[in-house]
Amino acid sequence: MLIDNFNRTIDYLRISVTERCNFRCQYCMPEKPFSWTPRENLLSFEELFDFVKIAIDNGVTKIRITGGEPLLREDLDKFIFMIFNYKNDIDLAMTTNGSLLKNFAKRFKDSGLKRINISLDSLNRENAWHLAQKDILKDVLNGINEAIKVGLKIKLNVVPIKNINDHEILDLLQFGMERNISVRFIEYMENSFANKNLIGLTGHDILNIISNNYKFIDEGIELGSPSHYYKLENGYRFGIIEPHRDDFCSYCNRIRLTAEGDLIPCLYFDEAKSIKESIRNKDLSGAEKILYEIIRDKPEKNRWSGDGESSNRAFYETGG
Ligand code: 5AD
Ligand code: SF4
Repeated sequence: MLIDNFNRTIDYLRISVTERCNFRCQYCMPEKPFSWTPRENLLSFEELFDFVKIAIDNGVTKIRITGGEPLLREDLDKFIFMIFNYKNDIDLAMTTNGSLLKNFAKRFKDSGLKRINISLDSLNRENAWHLAQKDILKDVLNGINEAIKVGLKIKLNVVPIKNINDHEILDLLQFGMERNISVRFIEYMENSFANKNLIGLTGHDILNIISNNYKFIDEGIELGSPSHYYKLENGYRFGIIEPHRDDFCSYCNRIRLTAEGDLIPCLYFDEAKSIKESIRNKDLSGAEKILYEIIRDKPEKNRWSGDGESSNRAFYETGG
């Protein structure tokens, strides 16, 4: 078991398989980065899998594949199957923008993927286009429909931004309700890569809008997740993630691995250690040692101050 210095059990690994993305969401990657990491610097799926085995052998029970946009990497279904085949009861999930999902959802499901979180910020073609700076809505909706069809468990992520999609909160809630898919509204987190002019809605703003139309009860924070859940009278549950208010750190159970092999103890913390050399030299006990060092160094609290300047690492590198 991986237990850190603050008695938190670390059982959740998030793997960003690529920093690249085919969207330019204004809150994440409004402009194409000056350069992408050259492909030869990325760990192959076989190399990532060597680390995954170490993590699982040491008590990781939940793995989420993220990006950038993970579907931009070829053979992702094979990577999913490697993990599933090693331990089939792993809680195996992915976060995607959904645009390429239509052609892959079935393959992912058949390879052992259990759950998928898809970004859906707007149901209006122009608004979605404006936010992602690309005409995306049709492809995303096709992806969501296919994920439903093949039986993946789905959550939808919405980041409400003033004057862009803040008037769509009830429509998005309705969209989730009609399909019995939980929608999670995520407070916009300021960061130095985002468009500086964005103003996010707070969890409080979002609840106000919903409470004008629905009655609901507060079900509290879900264990092992940063999301606060609310239940409507008809039983439908939606979530709100409020980094400006909630302190997730005291029950944080996660570490992150980037496509380049950097192992990161905390999202808002620049320190990281690379497992690349150990993995490439087939020094698996060396990689395991680094894992333990990262757990030992996991900070008690993040350094995110809400000013958007507290980390030099972009969300698209670390998978948010
Ligand atoms: N603030 C809040 N959420 C963000 N995401 C990406 N960047 C931000 C940000 N600045 C979330 C989006 C997307 C997921 C990949 O990460 O909700 O669904
Ligand atoms: Fe791409 Fe997701 Fe970032 Fe949007 S939020 S730019 S889809 S990585």
